[in-house]
Amino acid sequence: MIDLRSDTVTKPTRAMRRAMAEAEVGDDVYGEDPTVNRLQERAAEIFGKEAAIFVPTGSMGNQIAIKLHTRPGQEVVIEERGHIFNFEMAAMAAVSGTIPRPVRSRDGSGILTWDEIEAALHVGGAYYVAPTGLIALENSHNLAGGTLLTRSRTEEICERAHERKLPVHLDGARIFNAATALAESVAALARPVDSVMFCLSKALGAPVGSMLLGERAFIEEARSWRKLLGGGMRQAGVLAAAGLVALEETPRRLHEDHANARKLAEGLAEIPGIKIDPEKIVTNIIIFDVSETGISADEICARLQQYNVLASGFGDSIRMVTHYDVSSDDIDVALKGMKEVVSR
Ligand SMILES: Cc1ncc(COP(=O)(O)O)c(C=O)c1O
Repeated sequence: MIDLRSDTVTKPTRAMRRAMAEAEVGDDVYGEDPTVNRLQERAAEIFGKEAAIFVPTGSMGNQIAIKLHTRPGQEVVIEERGHIFNFEMAAMAAVSGTIPRPVRSRDGSGILTWDEIEAALHVGGAYYVAPTGLIALENSHNLAGGTLLTRSRTEEICERAHERKLPVHLDGARIFNAATALAESVAALARPVDSVMFCLSKALGAPVGSMLLGERAFIEEARSWRKLLGGGMRQAGVLAAAGLVALEETPRRLHEDHANARKLAEGLAEIPGIKIDPEKIVTNIIIFDVSETGISADEICARLQQYNVLASGFGDSIRMVTHYDVSSDDIDVALKGMKEVVSR
């Protein structure tokens, strides 16, 4: 199967499996797992943040950040297709007592300008309006098609937010993809934000795990919330060992996934009925409209399985994601399948 549904589907590499088997472990609830500690220190060093904590999922990392930055009754300003708003249940309401204030990006890129954010803020206004507690950004932006938040835009948003005493959290589930595409370091992209979450288990290829980073006191408090949410794991070094391999080895090959995504987009653009601008595919996520093919997205995905290709349908669109288990030859197979499915 050529699995293009997500970059979460990668299987651990041989090096990861070896590292997992040989991992030195201890009880991480006591802070005694040397491999988890090494992963946390290394992530903090790479991101230039004071501290990091290993969490089981990206969702937990994001939700702990929201909990720590906000008070119940506040709003979280977020782009309307943001993962935190659309795919993390109603966790910000259930866990933090906050509600999202979704904002549409006028240019459709999913990347908000400061003006768009500012228009949605409630700071120091009427007492009967829920105040803004947090601005949540996403880089790269998953549901907008892997689009990019530049370093300068991040800096501008954070500077203006901080002038208003508002914290900024970055959902950087795929920040290494963003850094690769922008030719920036992850530290530069994350420097101005108050907290950042990134996933080891997406494009980086680890089987499990994400990291939340920020100031030391913030991460110490995050440890309590991780426990409260049931995320205090014991000999988690077995997982952290794979995470360390992912962190050290995968970033340098992400450009291959981006090249495969662009190749896929260019091929798709030639298929009648498919609407996609290949120039807009800058990372590993491709979302394209199939409404003019006359076949529903779900039906196309179902038929693609006969060609051993898996993709995800969303309304009139299909999402395909490249990752290290997808080769350039696999892209040829997927394109051949798409052509046949759509022209049948
Ligand atoms: C942008 C983004 N943020 C957060 C997450 C949540 O990660 P997890 O599935 O580990 O909870 C995802 C998962 O797909 C994502 O795409």
